[in-house]
Amino acid sequence: MAATLIDGKALAAKLKQNVRESAEALPRKPGLAVILVGDDPASRVYVTSKRKDCEECGFYSEEYALPAETTQKQLLDLVNELNGREDIDGILVQLPLPKGLDEREVLLAINPAKDVDCFHPYNVGQLTIGTPVFQPCTPGGVMEMLREYGIDPAGKRCVVLGRSNIVGKPMALLLLHAHGTVVLCHSKTPDLKELAASADILVSAVGKTGLVTAGMVKEGSVVIDVAMNRNEAGKLCGDVCFEEAAAKASYITPVPGGVGPMTRAMLMKNTLTAAKLHQGVE
Ligand code: GUN
Repeated sequence: MAATLIDGKALAAKLKQNVRESAEALPRKPGLAVILVGDDPASRVYVTSKRKDCEECGFYSEEYALPAETTQKQLLDLVNELNGREDIDGILVQLPLPKGLDEREVLLAINPAKDVDCFHPYNVGQLTIGTPVFQPCTPGGVMEMLREYGIDPAGKRCVVLGRSNIVGKPMALLLLHAHGTVVLCHSKTPDLKELAASADILVSAVGKTGLVTAGMVKEGSVVIDVAMNRNEAGKLCGDVCFEEAAAKASYITPVPGGVGPMTRAMLMKNTLTAAKLHQGVE
């Protein structure tokens, strides 16, 4: 393997340690409420890890596991109640929501000052014009990784695969704000392979095992794999064919142990930011 491994797990641990130290200096513990509707097993795992992260960072946390039959009104009532709580700084509604619930309306109901996911249109707008209050967790985590390893997107060709609201779109914006030249590719992009192969920094967030082959990786490039897929053997893997990509790249993220832990650490960082905001601390 020619590439240097970007160790997201180690960097996330360092970030959470810094968050913990800042949290300890606050008059009141940061508080995070996590809402899970339905019984999606993957979401269940994410929610459990968020509870552990809160413990590690010395945060107060509450978890709401609601049945799949929860009505829109019940969910909105809970969000509104949490909006009014002084001990809750951040509210996270785990996505996707079960069929029949209006995700857009729920995200709109979250007080933007408690929107630690950075999904509310107010925060998305702030992000778009370059004055974000919160960092979107996954793309923000990727930017932290690039910074830590001395990789500056300025003047580089950055190709993002996937245009989701959670990853692809905000990723493109953050790279653009960092002065990268950004190409955002999606399922209707005809020359996706050629564009990927032209990238100095390639970020894949599609969710398709084996998508990124050696032919799509430029010699000496940086490869960031955001995906969390399971292969036929049930093993966790990303979009990137790791071994063959690592033979050409200069830096690469593993799955697991790459972007995933950074997403979680950024959520803690955002909750700290919200707590400081609510307590009038700089
Ligand atoms: N589902 C997948 N990723 C995320 C995330 O970052 N936040 C929330 N709330 N739901 C998700």
